[in-house]
Amino acid sequence: MTEPAWEEICSLLDTAHDMQERSYCPYSGFAVGAALLTEDGKVYGGCNIENSAYSPSNCAERTAFFTALADGERKFRAIAIVGGRNREVGDYCFPCGVCRQVMSEFCRPDDFWIITANNAGETVVRTLRDLLPEAFRFKKLKK
Ligand code: THU
Repeated sequence: MTEPAWEEICSLLDTAHDMQERSYCPYSGFAVGAALLTEDGKVYGGCNIENSAYSPSNCAERTAFFTALADGERKFRAIAIVGGRNREVGDYCFPCGVCRQVMSEFCRPDDFWIITANNAGETVVRTLRDLLPEAFRFKKLKK
């Protein structure tokens, strides 16, 4: 599949902005929103959810993935992410390593698109392979 069309990118970023409002981030103050697009066109939102014990915190991207997966979805096309302090969009917000690994479990490296935007409204689109080259994947576990 090719990169999502510009209209799809804008629509996903709109949802990611809305999800950023729902972020629960009293400890870092860094609010993140994500919008995950399935192959058949459904969109699942996610926000980061922090915890006073810190380590149980969950990133926006994983919230979106786990919500979609629990809803039975298995095929994904793209995710848009925005983040920043004071619930504003700051610089580009690329996914952390843990979220990249979760994406790698369910998405094809050259066929999953990661979109982020900055506060100037500029966007960057990368494939999963761009962000996680030489990934450790389930094939390597097979005997
Ligand atoms: N965070 C995300 O939700 N996604 C990212 O891509 C980067 C970091 C969250 C985790 C934590 O709640 C806060 O941002 C600061 O690291």
